[in-house]
Amino acid sequence: MRSTLVSQFGDPRQAIALVDADRVAPGPGEVEVAVALTAINPSDLIPVTGAYSARTTLPFVPGFEGFGTVTRIGAGVISLKPGDRVVPIGASGLWQEYLIRPAEWCFILPDEIGETDAATCYVNPLTALQLIEALRQHFGLLARRRIGVTAAGSAIGGMLMKLLAGEGADATGIVRSQRSAERLSLEFPGRVALGDERHPPGLRVDAIIDAVGGPFAGDLIVRTLEPGGTFIQYGALSGVPVSQAAIQARADIHFSFLWLRTWVHSAGRSSIEAAFAKSFDGLRSGLFSSRIAEIYPLSRLDAALAHQADPGRDGKLLIDPRC
Ligand SMILES: NC(=O)c1ccc[n+]([C@@H]2O[C@H](COP(=O)([O-])OP(=O)(O)OC[C@H]3O[C@@H](n4cnc5c(N)ncnc54)[C@H](OP(=O)(O)O)[C@@H]3O)[C@@H](O)[C@H]2O)c1
Repeated sequence: MRSTLVSQFGDPRQAIALVDADRVAPGPGEVEVAVALTAINPSDLIPVTGAYSARTTLPFVPGFEGFGTVTRIGAGVISLKPGDRVVPIGASGLWQEYLIRPAEWCFILPDEIGETDAATCYVNPLTALQLIEALRQHFGLLARRRIGVTAAGSAIGGMLMKLLAGEGADATGIVRSQRSAERLSLEFPGRVALGDERHPPGLRVDAIIDAVGGPFAGDLIVRTLEPGGTFIQYGALSGVPVSQAAIQARADIHFSFLWLRTWVHSAGRSSIEAAFAKSFDGLRSGLFSSRIAEIYPLSRLDAALAHQADPGRDGKLLIDPRC
């Protein structure tokens, strides 16, 4: 079967190989899923670079998000049957034609969820919901809270802006380019501010939800957060962590990280099912729909990865492992 493999860490464009792999039968409690569409997310590429080498075992097949159809079931599986459309989660491995996964890590897709929505229903919607929950735990009600969202031009940034509007929060989307600022002000509720190396002038907020990291995040922590505020980091698109000096300079704020994988591996199946139910509702209403820039056949992985690295990319890229 068509598959991919990372055998050594490095630039994803060199380190991810297209390979011909053996198709294996599901063991007890497992199912085989024919992957229909899978997403390229920043979180798929970061482990390839070796950034999390302490918790990444080589070799591995990338791909944390996507959906497919159950083709075979192992002994003892009663919750799923061949033909069921599922979202397999809990580990990487979606960037291949067939995937073996424990049945308990597969979640049934409602029939009306279309293919591109199904391929993007997990990582960003569930993380956005967890980020809003973390803010609620800090503040209680979010109405009128001033909340800054960095990298607001990203897929998850757009979801956060819409969720915050729904909570009645006073959200500011922070973007790095005029082009994104213009697009965001047309598409999303809330204010839009330009900020790249330095914080947007005059910005004062009660909370920051950050996916950029580096000196920019440090500047936001030091200069824009009100005393008693909270800073939640969930990504590092700049490739640089938030400086410890900035965090230590603000003993009056609460700093935390939020990683979906930590939540998923501790939440329990019923909580994850409840989160998926919210994701499917959000996909039906358009709240969680991701703009799709292009769908590539897996055989053109090189072109897909080059497009992913293009700063002019305008939306998510999906991979079809069937071709
Ligand atoms: N913690 C978790 O569990 C978790 C879960 C989901 C996502 N994330 C993180 O969320 C972030 C966004 O993910 P996504 O899937 O939404 O990505 P995406 O849709 O691919 O969006 C990337 C966008 O972010 C903006 N961007 C990239 N680098 C930037 C930088 N250095 N400074 C400011 N903006 C930058 C760019 O927008 P413009 O150039 O158009 O402004 C780019 O188009 C990633 O860091 C990802 O790892 C974390």
